[in-house]
Amino acid sequence: SYEKLWLGAAMLLIVVFIATITYGAVGLGVAMIDDAEETISPGDVFDDDRFGEPRVEQVGEDEYEVYVRAQTFTYNPNEIVVPENSEVTFYVTSPDVIHSFSVVGTNINTMVIPGEISTMTVEFDDPGEYGIVCNEYCGSGHHDMEGKLYVV
Ligand code: CUA
Repeated sequence: SYEKLWLGAAMLLIVVFIATITYGAVGLGVAMIDDAEETISPGDVFDDDRFGEPRVEQVGEDEYEVYVRAQTFTYNPNEIVVPENSEVTFYVTSPDVIHSFSVVGTNINTMVIPGEISTMTVEFDDPGEYGIVCNEYCGSGHHDMEGKLYVV
């Protein structure tokens, strides 16, 4: 009957829809687990234990913390390397003006506001090479503000 045909078509659409969402999340190999915010005085950024020496730090078997200083017009560190199958928490802040920390092709995209520490936990399942760009206009060097993220 037509009714059964319509029902079948509707169910097929739902299956395709779910498969698309699942593929989108899994196919990329990058999954956002959590995001949050802390505060820091912009004047303290360079003296801070984490942001005075921005770096990648291993904190568990497959767990890493990445401290990033977004500043006019660069990211420090400019190249971030983390292993595949790891859980990575990014802490990003700015000592000067508003920037963003956006990893091209992923859902990692956060505003970086002086006085705030943007925090994101992300799972990287597959190796890949990603561009890091600033999506907030921050001055004359805005378009040159970029970095690289390598999952190896
Ligand atoms: Cu930093 Cu735009």
